Formats: sequence, C-alpha cells, structure tokens
Amino acid sequence: MAGNRTFTMIKPDAYGAGNSGAILKMIEEAGFAIKAMKLTKLTAEKAGAFYAVHKERPFYNDLVNYMSSGPIIAAILEKDNAVEDFRKLIGATNPADAAEGTIRKIFATSIEANAVHGSDSDENAEIEGSFYFSQFERV
Ligand code: CMP
Repeated sequence: MAGNRTFTMIKPDAYGAGNSGAILKMIEEAGFAIKAMKLTKLTAEKAGAFYAVHKERPFYNDLVNYMSSGPIIAAILEKDNAVEDFRKLIGATNPADAAEGTIRKIFATSIEANAVHGSDSDENAEIEGSFYFSQFERV
C-alpha cells in the first residue's frame, strides 16, 4: 500500500526568486498538508550527503555546489498516495519535459535549478525527512 508522506525541498533558485510562497500555495491547493517545515542553508558537506546516491553521476559536483549556494525550504508533506501524487504535481526533472501546469514547468529554470525536489519512493521519503527533522519536529 502506498504511504501517505513525502519529502520536498524548495531549492535555492526558487527560494532566491521569491517563489516559495507561490509553490507552497500550489502544494496546499493540491491537497498536501505540511507536517514539518524549515528554512535552512546546506553546507556542501550536507548537500553531498543528501545526494550521496548520485555520487558517481557527472552532475554530482555541480549539484552539491548549487544546493549549497543559497537557502532552501525543507518540508514533510502528507496526502494519500503522497510520493506519486507529488511527483505528478512537480513534473519531470527536466523542466523542458515537464507537463504544463506543473511546479517545475512554471518555476524551474534548468534541469539542475529545477525549483523543487520530491522523494521517489516511500522508503526515500522517510530517509530524506529524517535527514532534516527529528520525530519531535513533525506534527
Ligand atoms: P532532484 O529530483 O532533486 O534529484 C537530483 C537532482 O540533480 C535533480 O533534481 C537536479 O536538480 C539535479 N540534476 C542535474 N543534472 C541532472 C541530470 N542530468 N539528471 C538528473 N538530475 C540532474
């Protein structure tokens, strides 16, 4: 059975452009409840650890630099079928491939600066949420 929680980050490009509020509005209007949220800035070390699964990919170093270049908003979201529904809401990784009306189509500027992150499985949603939030920081 699909889980009911996912994890997201509003990335430095979207935060820096002042799009956090508009993105959170789309997320809430799509039926997701915010269960934990924080504004923070990743060190390169922390960004590298978060994306360790991509360590061997050619874009890894650029991704680490980019994700530590400015503030991000991390959040745990709740909704039935959260992981899959959130990935539909944000659209494809590359905004050029993202469907009309998706968050990345509207706000992303490149495949790297793609506005938001969304977990790709229930297991990763739990791992990624735990990267930022203790049990006591979730409602
Ligand atoms: P995200 O869904 O957070 O997962 C990995 C991130 O790496 C991705 O979004 C992009 O920000 C970034 N990235 C940069 N280049 C690529 C690429 N060619 N393929 C996938 N992800 C990429």
